Amino acid sequence: MKTYSCALITGASAGLGEEFAIQLAPDCESMILVARREDRLADLKNRLERNYSHLTVHMVAADLADRDRRNQLISQISHADLTPDLLVNNAGLGDYGEFTQADWAKTELMMEVNMTCLTHLTHAFLPAMLANGKGGILNVSSLASLLPIPDFAVYAATKSYVSSFSEALRLELKGTGVNVTALCPGPVHTEFGDVAKREDLSKEFSAREMVYVDKEQVVREALVGIKRNSPRVYPGLLVAAAALGIGLLPVAAIRLIMGSRPRRILPD
Ligand SMILES: NC(=O)c1ccc[n+]([C@@H]2O[C@H](COP(=O)([O-])OP(=O)(O)OC[C@H]3O[C@@H](n4cnc5c(N)ncnc54)[C@H](OP(=O)(O)O)[C@@H]3O)[C@@H](O)[C@H]2O)c1
Repeated sequence: MKTYSCALITGASAGLGEEFAIQLAPDCESMILVARREDRLADLKNRLERNYSHLTVHMVAADLADRDRRNQLISQISHADLTPDLLVNNAGLGDYGEFTQADWAKTELMMEVNMTCLTHLTHAFLPAMLANGKGGILNVSSLASLLPIPDFAVYAATKSYVSSFSEALRLELKGTGVNVTALCPGPVHTEFGDVAKREDLSKEFSAREMVYVDKEQVVREALVGIKRNSPRVYPGLLVAAAALGIGLLPVAAIRLIMGSRPRRILPD
């Protein structure tokens, strides 16, 4: 008997999502991997099924920003008689640069994937978890959820939504056997920076190397967190310390600090 009968992982074609699939594989009977890049998903499915004979991997290539496609995915999963008992809402993207210069299509896509899709899939799969009296929902938020961040204004706001929603849902679900955890990583080397970068800006988001945490560690700590029913996971000591520090500051101090932080964005 494995820890999870079926784990659904969004954004499994790269970065943290791929790592979630790799680390969850020994503990799952089946897995549903979702992202747009089908070739990446197929490659991961092959690797996992080769390494774990007990595991069945289903893959669905889907644009999660598309509500009709999400509805299709939800009915595909229920027709296949798969009931996720772990939902990893990981798919997400950023957009680095001034809000006034932002491309609206990318801004809308980011809000749709980071917030609406996460909420929609939670709403769709929660009833079965409640009926079974057990389940886990791991929502990938960010350390950025704690701060208003100039040049990352909408991204940080979407992650504030994720953390707030996760905390409230967790309270609603107290005593039901369904755990909700918000994972709040600081910087991690994945494809995130490339995707967040704007074509018309030479600058991309980067932080001091010392604050980066390996994706392996981020996922390891997240999986412990969901098992322990931790409300939030801040992976890595420096990130955890930063989160603690930010949490102790009054809004006026945060405003002052974020306002005096040097801006690194310069249009070409
Ligand atoms: N890396 C960091 O520094 C960092 C820090 C804090 C939080 N996070 C959060 O961690 C999560 C994972 O990001 P990552 O760092 O692993 O970035 P990544 O390497 O760019 O991976 C993002 C994943 O999301 C999927 N995705 C994006 N848009 C999608 C869409 N419309 N439909 C379906 N799938 C979509 C991508 O798949 P396809 O492109 O194949 O669709 C990819 O698998 C995100 O929620 C991000 O906000 C990242």
